[in-house]
Amino acid sequence: MNMKICLMPGDGIGPEIVEQAVAVLDKVAAKFGHTVEYSNALIGGVAIDATGNPLPDETVAACKAADAVLLGAVGGPKWDTLPGDRRPEKGLLGIRKALGLFANLRPAKLFPELAQACFLRPDIVKDGIDVMVVRELTGCIYFGQPVGREMRDGKMTAFNTMVYDEEEVRRIARLAFDAAMKREKRLCSVDKANVLEVSRLWREVVEEVAKEYPEVELTHMYVDNAAMQLVRNPNQFDVIVTGNLFGDILSDEAAVITGSIGMLPSASLGAGGPGLYEPIHGSAPDIAGQNKANPLATILSVAMMLRYAFSLNDEAQAIENAVQRVLQEGYRTGDIMEEGKSLVGCNTMGNLVAERI
Ligand code: NAI
Ligand code: MG
Repeated sequence: MNMKICLMPGDGIGPEIVEQAVAVLDKVAAKFGHTVEYSNALIGGVAIDATGNPLPDETVAACKAADAVLLGAVGGPKWDTLPGDRRPEKGLLGIRKALGLFANLRPAKLFPELAQACFLRPDIVKDGIDVMVVRELTGCIYFGQPVGREMRDGKMTAFNTMVYDEEEVRRIARLAFDAAMKREKRLCSVDKANVLEVSRLWREVVEEVAKEYPEVELTHMYVDNAAMQLVRNPNQFDVIVTGNLFGDILSDEAAVITGSIGMLPSASLGAGGPGLYEPIHGSAPDIAGQNKANPLATILSVAMMLRYAFSLNDEAQAIENAVQRVLQEGYRTGDIMEEGKSLVGCNTMGNLVAERI
């Protein structure tokens, strides 16, 4: 297979971690007989410095021409004083919109080798954690109309509106069922159907889509309970699907229980076009350019890319296995360092993973 990948290293540690992820992708491609065609595009602060715009038109065009996009991170103190609409983050929001990315896949995976960094009880996490939150990204209360303020009974009153139509629910549900089919085939739909009409429609549509996926075991859970269950016993979940508001909160909760921001990948997917693959962490300006960054979140984002953009499951698994072996052998970057382990830099960590493919 030939894969057209658009690279957007971005700012801070972005270039260092993307370089390592590319080296690993090249190794996987060579090993499994694929070819990769790379293009490069500017986003965020580096794009502002070069063009004055955090998302130049050429960047959008380069992303659209690719099969998948790999992003490092954007932002940093250098651009913090710019007005909101010209800041690096605007580039990220803009590219998500331009590519029509309506689903955010956030695996919260704790390798058992790193269980010590996790603050849940050891008996809960001794075998690691492996949950994925699928969050709807373009609807819900963040975008619903009407929004505003008005005087009601003499009091200033503000309102937002939670809205989903059946098509929006159907497409995120299908995507989540598809993701569950690539994992343990268990899907938990999280809502607040005891209170919210939006959630009652959500549940009906998810039930209807479930008929297309007889192999997947579907359950429903109220969001308040889901927030508790995630810390009580995260491994009861395989894939969680939920709306934008609940997903915002639950995906961060699921990530933080793993205890290692430098380890977590993500994918944002749309309808048909290229998806965006990126680590969940930011540009880490405090360690940028020092060969200290952990490249594993970006390397694991490449594994997600192989799985979700190209259905190359063996190739994705080869990367995940290589990462696990490196951890088993005791190599650690600074952010996941423990006593008795071997401290390595960003380059070495990337090389170690590539060598084990
Ligand atoms: P951050 O995720 O960049 O850093 C938080 C802490 O985690 C820092 O101490 C950093 O050194 C460490 N860290 C993060 N990634 C690491 C890695 N791969 N290896 C080792 N250590 C790592 O978040 P922060 O400091 O809030 O934001 C810094 C900049 O990044 C800001 O300009 C922010 O706007 C931007 N940002 C960009 C995101 C993106 O591009 N998706 C997401 C979050 C923040
Ligand atoms: Mg959040």
